[in-house]
Amino acid sequence: MTSPSGTAEFDAIAPGYDASRGGTARAAGFAEQLAPLLDPDRPVLDIGVGTGIVAAELTARGHVVYGLDLSTGMLARALERLGPRVTVADACRLPVRTSSVSQAVSTWLLHTGPDHGRVFDEVARVLRPGGRYLVIPAGGTRPTDDIGAVVGELEDRLDPLRTRQDGPWTLAPIAEARGLVYRGTASERPTAFRVSPRAMARSLSGGLFTGAWSVTGDATRLVAEAQERLLALPDPDVPRVREMADFVMVFEKP
Ligand SMILES: C[S@@+](CC[C@H](N)C(=O)[O-])C[C@H]1O[C@@H](n2cnc3c(N)ncnc32)[C@H](O)[C@@H]1O
Repeated sequence: MTSPSGTAEFDAIAPGYDASRGGTARAAGFAEQLAPLLDPDRPVLDIGVGTGIVAAELTARGHVVYGLDLSTGMLARALERLGPRVTVADACRLPVRTSSVSQAVSTWLLHTGPDHGRVFDEVARVLRPGGRYLVIPAGGTRPTDDIGAVVGELEDRLDPLRTRQDGPWTLAPIAEARGLVYRGTASERPTAFRVSPRAMARSLSGGLFTGAWSVTGDATRLVAEAQERLLALPDPDVPRVREMADFVMVFEKP
């Protein structure tokens, strides 16, 4: 079965998704960041659960996690990990009763394209008073090395309306307009990875950007320009150590 438009790309990358995104080490790191902010006695709803790799790490730490996602390809792996606690559903139309959820999480969901306003409409609806929505953004901090300067500028040019930006400055006003309170960030975890300009240029090919973002038409030219700039950097085959920080954004329903 093919997934609805917007997540069909994830069907294609699902088999290699976990390994190409830091594998279990990334997922365990996210679980360590989320766990202190979660009540182990209440179930967790993972919105955009993907392959279930983060949910499985939370489960291993004693949490009962339910998950939903629109990509059937990603969910096939989540089903193996979590069994019937996962389902196909849209983050913009949660199949959940109003005021029935104590805690929900999303890791690396909101940069992939769902309408932020509609997701927060739904989160505000399903959370109980006192309930929490924890978000680990993909674009929380940008690496400041020479590759980061080129890729950051490409992201801005491909997304001038910032529909894929998922940091606090974008999400806090959206959440607060729906009656949620933004409590700030927690559990910051510095991370570093190594990549050369040439490898980064290569990863921008193939019509996908950040592995999830369909690049077509005029945008292809912007990607080609960024690739040229990456290859023109000094020592394009020498990996840079790219430093970032992952953090959790905490939203609460009063
Ligand atoms: C980058 S992956 C992250 C998956 C997982 N949370 C993780 O950290 O590994 C983003 C996921 O969000 C899902 N997604 C995107 N838009 C969605 C929507 N509107 N409703 C449900 N899932 C969605 C995609 O199918 C994909 O599995």
